[in-house]
Parts: sequence; structure tokens; C-alpha cells
Amino acid sequence: MRKVFVSTQSVLVVFFLSFSFAWADAKRGEEFFNSMQGGDCKSCHRVDGSKLVGPGLADVTKRHTNEWLKAFLSDPQATWKSEHPETLELKTRVRKTRVPITTCKKGPMTSEQLQDLLDYLATLDK
Ligand code: HEC
Repeated sequence: MRKVFVSTQSVLVVFFLSFSFAWADAKRGEEFFNSMQGGDCKSCHRVDGSKLVGPGLADVTKRHTNEWLKAFLSDPQATWKSEHPETLELKTRVRKTRVPITTCKKGPMTSEQLQDLLDYLATLDK
């Protein structure tokens, strides 16, 4: 009986630990998103549905797959040039089928910063 109790407890501990780590990543992503020294995404994107320079990012992880977001945020220019259906949908939506992309990336991002950013974007779903 006691053994069962202990293992239930450790399952709970693991559960809450992983939950707080996931949250911490999204939190770091949010800081990176807002910081001028970081991604500075906030200069062009609101996190609700309204447009600023770029589209509002609410529900962005419903519009896009994780792979596309990863590719786009790692190399916006190359992704913009591709014939990927999600790129074509974005171009049509922002009515820029023939125009080069607005610079969406300030500088190099580590893979950790990219993952934090993706975790944060996923919290913007309604
Ligand atoms: C200089 C302005 C600017 C900055 C800074 C910027 N973006 Fe963008 N972003 C845009 C514009 C404009 C578009 C739409 C494509 C276009 O018109 O070039 C866009 C498109 C996107 C999209 C696709 C949205 C959709 O609805 O499909 C995502 C995701 C995105 N940006 C994320 C980011 C992130 C994350 C950052 C910060 C690392 C960032 N952007 C920084 C202007 C910007």
C-alpha cells in the first residue's frame, strides 16, 4: 500500500516539474518576443488578432504547423520564397504575392530561443 502511495506521489512530482518547465520556456519566449535586444517581435506583432506591421499572432499555431513555423523563424526569406502551401496562404492573406518579405528576424537565434519562442506562440491560441 505504502509503495503505491510513493509512486503516485513521484508521478505527480514529475508531472508538475515538467509542467513548470514548459511554462518557463514559454515565459522565456515571451521575454525574447518583447525584448528589443531579443527578437523584438513586439515592434511589428500584436499577440491578439489585430494587425500591426505584421499579422496579429493569436491562433498562429492553428494556422501553421510547427515545422513551418520553425522553418519560417529560422530563415524567413527562404521560407517566403518556397512554394509551401502555408507560405502561399500567408502571401494571399497579407496580399503580398509578389513582394519580398518584411524582415521578420533581427539576428541569429539559438535553437533554444527558437523553441522558447514556439512554446510562447502556442500560448497565444484562444
Ligand atoms: C519589421 C517588422 C517585423 C518584425 C520585427 C517581426 N515580424 Fe513577423 N511578420 C511581419 C510581417 C509584415 C509579416 C507578414 C509577411 C510580410 O508581409 O512580409 C510577418 C509574419 C509573421 C508570421 C506569420 C504570421 C501568420 O499569420 O501567418 C509569424 C509567425 C511571425 N511573423 C513571427 C514573428 C516573430 C516570432 C518575430 C520576432 C522574432 C517577428 N515575427 C518579427 C513583420 C515583422
